[in-house]
Amino acid sequence: MKKPLKIAPSMLACNLAQIENEVRRVEAAGVDYIHVDIMDGHFVPNLSFGPEFVATLKRITKVPLDVHLMIQQPDRYARTFIEAGADILTVHLEAYHDVRRTLEIIRGMGCKCGLSINPMTLFQNCGSILKKIDLLLCMTVNPGFGGQPFIVEVLDKIRQAVAYREQHGLDFDIEVDGGLTTDTIGPSVAAGANVIVAGTSIFGKADATAAVKELRARAAEVSAGG
Ligand code: DX5
Ligand code: ZN
Repeated sequence: MKKPLKIAPSMLACNLAQIENEVRRVEAAGVDYIHVDIMDGHFVPNLSFGPEFVATLKRITKVPLDVHLMIQQPDRYARTFIEAGADILTVHLEAYHDVRRTLEIIRGMGCKCGLSINPMTLFQNCGSILKKIDLLLCMTVNPGFGGQPFIVEVLDKIRQAVAYREQHGLDFDIEVDGGLTTDTIGPSVAAGANVIVAGTSIFGKADATAAVKELRARAAEVSAGG
């Protein structure tokens, strides 16, 4: 059965001088999650937000927080981000940690857990870890910055993930992150992604409601076989 489409605007692209208004703008647009990109300047060549930012968002919205840790030692910080209010916590396979253990910490705290893989990481490297996750994040850009072009080769990996999920009777969501636009959402959904992260193409638009509506419409065309 097809999994419901979820739209997750990335706060990385919001106007930080107006955080609360930016959250209201995407709440009004009817988004499903708010995506929060955490960068440590080691795992990726950029710095962004810390747990206090997640806690601030938690105080101002009920929309579930989809927290993406692009940090080198996620096992050290998972608890802190869950206590701050993460509803889904995603960690990278490529980080320096025992990924199975980190995922156990996350699940053990009653939080949904996600596994993320960079564009160059082979799907096969995930192995049986896939049996323990709620979400697989297939990065469609090299992590670190918003506004980069979508890497189309990742579509094959999404198809592999869908096949694996079916073969093993699993249920994880498949999320795409990076370069999602009205042009790239269709191919992503057609390949099997159902959670769509979009920074620039939502927060970068004056009318976020129209932007989200247009993204959903493009996804629906594909689901209807168009
Ligand atoms: C990239 C981040 C993304 C980014 C997406 O490292 O994980 O979430 O904000 O930005 P856009 O949608 O602008 O490509
Ligand atoms: Zn992200």
